[in-house]
Parts: sequence; structure tokens; C-alpha cells
Amino acid sequence: MQTLANKKILLGITGGIAAYKAAELLRLLIKAGAEVRVVMTPSAQEFVQPLTYQALSGHRVYIDLFDAEAESAMDHIELARWCDLLLVAPASANFLGKLNAGYADNLLLTLCLASKQPVAVAPAMNQQMFANAATEDNINQLKARRVLVWGPAEGEQACGDVGPGRMLEPEQLVNNVAQYFIPGKLDGVELLLTAGPTREAIDPVRYISNRSSGKMGYALAEAALKEGASVTLVSGPVALPAPQGVQLVAVESAQQMYDAVMQQASTSDIFIACAAVADYRVDQAADHKLKKSTDSMSLQLVRNVDILAAVSALERRPFCVGFAAETRQLEKYALGKLEQKNLDMIAANQVGDSNSGFEVDSNQLEVFWPGGRQSIEHATKTDIAKQLIDLIIERYTCARR
Ligand code: PMT
Repeated sequence: MQTLANKKILLGITGGIAAYKAAELLRLLIKAGAEVRVVMTPSAQEFVQPLTYQALSGHRVYIDLFDAEAESAMDHIELARWCDLLLVAPASANFLGKLNAGYADNLLLTLCLASKQPVAVAPAMNQQMFANAATEDNINQLKARRVLVWGPAEGEQACGDVGPGRMLEPEQLVNNVAQYFIPGKLDGVELLLTAGPTREAIDPVRYISNRSSGKMGYALAEAALKEGASVTLVSGPVALPAPQGVQLVAVESAQQMYDAVMQQASTSDIFIACAAVADYRVDQAADHKLKKSTDSMSLQLVRNVDILAAVSALERRPFCVGFAAETRQLEKYALGKLEQKNLDMIAANQVGDSNSGFEVDSNQLEVFWPGGRQSIEHATKTDIAKQLIDLIIERYTCARR
């Protein structure tokens, strides 16, 4: 089946032994129906002659930024606009470093900078180079900037080493490209999500917080991304990496979370409040570390603003999904919050349980909406998130009709 019919792929090839596999990748992309143009870095030519890719693609191969003849056929800005996806395979450690740093000292790097289209890279390098902290930082930063990172695979390497660093097989890469183009149910949807705890300062070294690890919220961000949503994740302090492709806004206090959320709320389509926001903060946090001069002390607490209620009260409001974390009377309290905060849906979880809720990897939910309810059985937070996102899509679609 021609899964990539009408798709335009700009295939970038950098200098590495896996460049020979790019010939097969090119052949398979074309077989799947894609129209492909090839751009090589100068060092890629040390491994494979451009003529190979020219013969396979039926088009000239672009190499030189200052090639007047090539520029007259399709200049590099036009080429950057032409494609639906820019796939760099193999992507060497050097290329990833330069891409991360924003270099544009060859045609391929210039195209990556000049293109508004998504960029996917398939790293391929020696396992030690891949393990190097500089490469790790480069890859993490590229992921944070929504560059799709596919691979690498593990196994035997051309140099004789064994470990992660092999380019994904061409079949797998074509599969990734095809998956990428499958429309998600949340394509074009702006989804705003809060996750993790907040920290309310007592003094410069102490704070009030809670046990939220961010696992539930981050799993929801992943599940929404898989459905094609554009996800902004406003997160309290957690020890989790940001899911690849989210727009992460890191905050600490409830007030900072409120400010970050309110900046985006009225232009979002869906808001999910999964964060465990502190209901109270210390009235006057001390400017200096408090000294233990007395046997007891009192802290004056004041209410924090309710972020979810504020979003749901907006004139142009997104579809609002809250969470309820309860140790007892789950249904009663959840239904109360659904009504008081004027929500479209609330997902209630039992907390204080060793098997679900805060910190652990699994959960179970009772989901309520005006006139309906559904249980999501005990499972991993990844599975629960997928099921909840499916349910949100269903209700959100109904609400828009
Ligand atoms: O992070 P994990 O360790 O994976 O744990 C997941 C979780 C238990 C934190 C999560 O599943 C969950 O239940 N999150 C909501 C926790 C909570 O604060 O519930 P609540 O019942 O106190 O608040 C009700 C709703 O109002 C929540 O959607 C909350 O985000 C929101 N809220 C609360 C207070 C406030 N000031 N602003 C808010 O937006």
C-alpha cells in the first residue's frame, strides 16, 4: 500500500557509515509513494557518491549552499518550504551538535533552520560517542525543541563495538514516517495541562508541598501528543524528563502555575488540571532562613487561587477537565468539585493508597461528567492516561457538536 502517497520528504544524509543504508531508505520511501529529494552534507560524500541517490530518487542531489545551478532549479528556501518532513538519516554526532547549536554552515543545516516543517533525525554513531554527555545533552535539547528523535538501535557496530548507536533499520524509519502522517484525533488541538506538585515557600530553604511525582500528568501529556495535540505542560518541580514534543513551562509555586496557565488558557481548546496544587501558601514567607529560637512556631496560611476554577470561569474557556484526589467519599467530593468548579469532566482517584494515586506507577479512576460516568480500572498510569484521553476526546467532540 502507498502509505506515503503525496508526501514530500527531504532526506538529509550526513557523514557516517550508515549513509549506505540511506540508499535503501530512499528506495523504500519512494516505494511507499513519497516524493523524495536528497540533501547531503559534504562529509556524507566521503561514504557514498551522490550519483547513487540521484539514480534512486530520479532527482539531482543537493549538496552545496553556494551552487548557483542547483539554486536556480529550486533555491534552498524553496526546498525548505517544499517538504512535509525533513528526515536526517543517518544523523551523525557532529550534525546533532551543530543542529542543537543553530549552526548553518552547510546546506542541510541551513535547511533545518530555514524550514518550518518538522525535523526528524535518526542518530547513528559509535556507542561511546552516543554515550558522551555532550551528545546526550544535544539530543535532549533537540527533543525539547520538538525535533523527532528516532533511534538509535542497539547492536553490533561497523567499528566492532556493541551497544546503542546503530541507525534504525530503513523499514523501521519508513514505518515511523508513515505513523507520523497518520492523523491523530487531536490534530490541531491546543491542549494545556498542569502536572506535579507546587512548592510554597516558608523561607528561602523550606517549603510546603505534597507527594505528587508528576507521573500521571506526564503520562497524559504523552497520550495527548500521540493523538496529535499540541501540548503545553505547566509543571511543578518533578524528577521526570519532559515528553518529547511538549512545550514545557516549569514553575514552582501555585501563583506561578496560575500565571503560566492564564497566559494560555483562553487560546487553548482543552485544559486538564492534573497538578496537585497547594490550597494554601504561607502568608509572609521569610526573606532569610528561620532560626529555631522557640519551642514551637505557627505559620499563617492564606488560600491560593484555584487555577481550575479560574480557567473554567473565563468567557472564552477551554473544555475543562479536573482531577479529584480523595482519601474518602470519592464520588461525593468529585461530584461536588465537578459542579462547584463548573467542569466538563472530573477524574477522581483514591489517594493515600499504596497501589494508586500519588507517586506510584499505577492508578485507577472514576470519571464523571454532567449526566455520565465511567470507571477506568486499575492499570499503569500510561494505560490510564490513554483511556482518559480517549474519553476526553469523546466528550470534547460531543461538546463541540
Ligand atoms: O503526580 P502523581 O504522583 O502521578 O499523582 C497523581 C495525582 C494523584 C496528583 C493526580 O492524579 C491528581 O489527583 N491530581 C489532582 C490533585 C489535587 O490537587 O486534587 P484536588 O482534589 O485537591 O483538586 C481538585 C482539582 O482542582 C484538581 O484538578 C487540581 O489540579 C485543581 N486545583 C486545586 C487547587 C488549586 N489551587 N488550583 C487548582 O487548579
